[in-house]
Amino acid sequence: MARDTQVFNAGTAVITGAGSGIGAGLARRAGALGMHVVVTDINEAAAAQTVAQITAAGGSAEAERVDVSIPEELDRLAELVFARHGEVRLLINNAGIETVGNTWEVSAARWEATLNINVHGVIHGVRAFVPRIIASGKEAWIGNLSSVGAFGQMPGQTAYTVTKHAVQAFSECLYLEMELKGLPIHVSAIVPGLMRTNIFNAETSAGEPGNATGHRRAMFEMMRDYGMDIDEGCRLFLEQMAEGKFWAHSHPDMSEQIIGGRIRFLQEQIPPIMPDLARQIAVE
Ligand SMILES: NC(=O)c1ccc[n+]([C@@H]2O[C@H](COP(=O)([O-])OP(=O)(O)OC[C@H]3O[C@@H](n4cnc5c(N)ncnc54)[C@H](O)[C@@H]3O)[C@@H](O)[C@H]2O)c1
Repeated sequence: MARDTQVFNAGTAVITGAGSGIGAGLARRAGALGMHVVVTDINEAAAAQTVAQITAAGGSAEAERVDVSIPEELDRLAELVFARHGEVRLLINNAGIETVGNTWEVSAARWEATLNINVHGVIHGVRAFVPRIIASGKEAWIGNLSSVGAFGQMPGQTAYTVTKHAVQAFSECLYLEMELKGLPIHVSAIVPGLMRTNIFNAETSAGEPGNATGHRRAMFEMMRDYGMDIDEGCRLFLEQMAEGKFWAHSHPDMSEQIIGGRIRFLQEQIPPIMPDLARQIAVE
């Protein structure tokens, strides 16, 4: 029997960006395993929909509107969750956005939003929750959404790639801080490969240049046609987290290949390696 059925069969789970995609899949899986899930998202209706899916399947959940780009909202969330439930066993800092466009063509506001949601959202999730988790004296699991993009370079997705490298580094240091302090808090970097989500929904997002549309559409279609089923990927993530693994992959082979490229890049100190895909879908 997989360890997740023992580790995540009770207690409170808090998941950001859980109104859609991987966050929603993780919320459904945590609910199915027996946890009470606090489903948070900037999109209140989407969060409510995930809650409805969990309760329809016999699980327990509640929705909270939270914008992770605002640190005070994460403080408020942590306060509220501990006041209501007194503990958090599973925290997943998942909310994230994609940003497409050549570095110099993405607006300042879009750069800021990407960094605030994808990086500061993760950092402040940890900053707000960890002191309370420590004070509770209970064992806990924290997963931060990294990506295979954390190990390579993807021109045209520079803003996004920067944030995923940052989340990966943050998670590695956080893991070591827990180890140094001897705290019973397990940290994982969740590394999705290609999952069938809406992160590249075919529209251009505010602050992206008009020439981003083709790249976005190509990525969206690739995920739709070749992406892993969300629920299957999320089952794998929680299984690996329950085993106490730092690395939680959906596509171990893809991770290995991209990490292998990074190792070569660093060891041989060659110039950045152009991914094949980048040429096919280059932003004009
Ligand atoms: N889909 C993949 O293949 C893939 C690959 C690697 C990494 N990831 C990472 O997984 C995470 C989830 O992505 P997804 O693919 O499920 O995307 P998605 O677009 O389907 O879901 C993201 C969710 O985050 C929410 N969100 C956006 N801004 C927010 C904010 N400021 N505050 C709170 N919630 C906010 C959205 O409303 C949405 O519900 C992201 O961090 C992403 O970088 C995804």
